[in-house]
Amino acid sequence: MYTRIPPPRRRSIVIEKIDLARKLALFQETWSPKIVGRVNDCLVKLVKLQGEFVWHHHEAEDELFLVLEGRLTMRFRDGDVELGKGEMIVVPRGVEHMPVAAEETHVLLFEPGTTLNTGNVRDERTVEHLERI
Ligand code: NI
Repeated sequence: MYTRIPPPRRRSIVIEKIDLARKLALFQETWSPKIVGRVNDCLVKLVKLQGEFVWHHHEAEDELFLVLEGRLTMRFRDGDVELGKGEMIVVPRGVEHMPVAAEETHVLLFEPGTTLNTGNVRDERTVEHLERI
């Protein structure tokens, strides 16, 4: 006869459905990414863009931009890439870029948690501590 070993107590895990439109309705400011999820060491962020950002690059991080609403121009030193709703781009680490949005544009970002929005540049739009919404 042997004793059954009880299974380890399961920690309760809350698996949350995230409605991106509802999250986007929670804030109005532009160029200030909000955290909506984490995948391993990467964060999922939402950001509203309007106007021109700043030329910058990220030493160590690749950045994914997925356009949810509006239009995004990603400027590179050797040309622009135009993105519409449902289109995405991955900017590799080390590559200079500048996001530009002629109209209010909503973007989902997927990038390592260490990524600073202005990369190697510090200015008034640098956001050190991102809000989680
Ligand atoms: Ni960047």
